[in-house]
Amino acid sequence: MSGTAETAIQTDFVFVPRAAEIAREAGARLREYFIQGVETEYKGDVDLVTVADRAVEKLIRERLGEVFPEHGIYGEEGTRERMDGEYRWYVDPLDGTTNFAHGFPQFCVSMGLEHRPRGTRADDDGTLVAGVIYDPMRDELFTAERGRGTQVNGKPAQVSRVAELAEALLATGFPSRKRHQSPNIHFYHEFTLRSHGVRRAGSAALDLAYVACGRMDGFWEFNLNPWDTAAGILLVEEAGGRVTDFAGAHYRLASDEILASNGLIQEELIGFFSDMFAGRHLSPIPTAEEFARARKSKEQGAGSSQ
Ligand code: IPD
Ligand code: CA
Ligand code: CA
Repeated sequence: MSGTAETAIQTDFVFVPRAAEIAREAGARLREYFIQGVETEYKGDVDLVTVADRAVEKLIRERLGEVFPEHGIYGEEGTRERMDGEYRWYVDPLDGTTNFAHGFPQFCVSMGLEHRPRGTRADDDGTLVAGVIYDPMRDELFTAERGRGTQVNGKPAQVSRVAELAEALLATGFPSRKRHQSPNIHFYHEFTLRSHGVRRAGSAALDLAYVACGRMDGFWEFNLNPWDTAAGILLVEEAGGRVTDFAGAHYRLASDEILASNGLIQEELIGFFSDMFAGRHLSPIPTAEEFARARKSKEQGAGSSQ
């Protein structure tokens, strides 16, 4: 852990400084588990969980309870505390469990804070007011508070200025369970053909953090949960980007589908979602014979031009 990130956190942040300390402690614990190696269990058919997911959620729950005793906590590994509180933390203690379990060093701690003023109905969203994502393998801390901007290790971060899908680097992910029910592979295919490429790095929270700091230009995914997205949404918005559902409507924490970008390519992405859902512009997969024929005629063309 570098002292630099710690000392440089913006001083007018209200929740971030103490939440960041918790995220760093949690991340350090994840790193230890990662280095020592952990046993993997299955939560369902294919959904992995490790001792690290559970132990680190417990640690975060305890620390948040000490520092913000009035705040609610909604954690991926089952924590449901003070759900009637005016503030609620959405916690993913380990986003990227599949990577973690395979020794692939792309994972993080994600903590997003929602303000739910008295009278907010159970089904309604409050306002996201703080977000902290910590990548312990790179010692990168991504932070945001509403109205106060986004920072990476204490330095201001902004979304990219890429204005066209054709020049964009995108990210997506696939659910670990019921993957055959997700249509995302078709979107992955089409967006790969229309952009500089689509990365599938295995941590939705880091994907969003990367959009916020301009390393990626856009991100989409089906079937995420608020613990995956709450912190990252605020990071993207505070860095100048946009977050909607696939149809361009305001993103709600209960929305399963998320589309985030630098804002400049959002409308183009929304247009493609609408076209693809309507079956337009889909690139057919060639048969083996068609592919062989096309390759042969290309080779012949290349030969005749030499
Ligand atoms: C997963 C990661 C992954 C995304 C999956 C999530 P987990 O979270 O964010 O990138 O594609 O949909 O479930 O299970 O590692 O916390
Ligand atoms: Ca997750
Ligand atoms: Ca998780």
